[in-house]
Amino acid sequence: MVAKIEKWDQKYSEHEFLYGKSENDFLREVSAFFPEQAEILSLGEGEGRNSIYLAKQGFKVTALDSSKVALQKLSKWAGTESLKIECWQTNIEQVDLGIEKWDVIVSIWFHLPSQLRKKVHEQVISALKPGGWIALEAYTPDQLAYKTGGPQDQDMLLTKDILMKEFFDFEFIILRETIRNVQEGTGHKGESATVQLLGRKPF
Ligand SMILES: C[S@@+](CC[C@H](N)C(=O)[O-])C[C@H]1O[C@@H](n2cnc3c(N)ncnc32)[C@H](O)[C@@H]1O
Repeated sequence: MVAKIEKWDQKYSEHEFLYGKSENDFLREVSAFFPEQAEILSLGEGEGRNSIYLAKQGFKVTALDSSKVALQKLSKWAGTESLKIECWQTNIEQVDLGIEKWDVIVSIWFHLPSQLRKKVHEQVISALKPGGWIALEAYTPDQLAYKTGGPQDQDMLLTKDILMKEFFDFEFIILRETIRNVQEGTGHKGESATVQLLGRKPF
């Protein structure tokens, strides 16, 4: 695991902003659903583009990532924008996300080995308040053929069916597989096969 964390630190050291400075398109599309001043946790946040966007909308944002390099960049960027974003530099395997703590949990391109991902999604469900929102975009196995970003490991990829099972009692406002042109820095570039979820935990 240490090797994987180091791999991300190295990637982020080599690029100024690996996925650019603009927020993810799907997150922009769905953020209008989030309650005013929502407490939002962003998983695998990286260098901060999504957190900065959300903080600018007036949300209270916590950014979780195992990469020290990424979160240092995020803190510096937030400082220049006079935004307050809490950073949790931690391995998701070792963290307690809390119980009914968050209005929204964001997971953008946060690909994990399936066994770990299932445990994390169980935690996400417990950690959301009743009526809380999950906003997620991830690559599907079809992305292996596109080679425009994301892990080249089928086990880490997601589908609509998997998400339906892992968030079985949620209301699915959006749950779709799509082919779309992703333009996010040098890290994600071109036609891509993704799955998008905007779901709501039952009250
Ligand atoms: C593809 S990047 C996505 C970055 C960001 N969400 C974005 O869209 O710009 C995946 C992120 O997950 C983080 N990550 C990977 N494994 C992790 C783990 N076990 N615990 C916490 N963060 C992890 C990496 O450091 C990396 O920043």
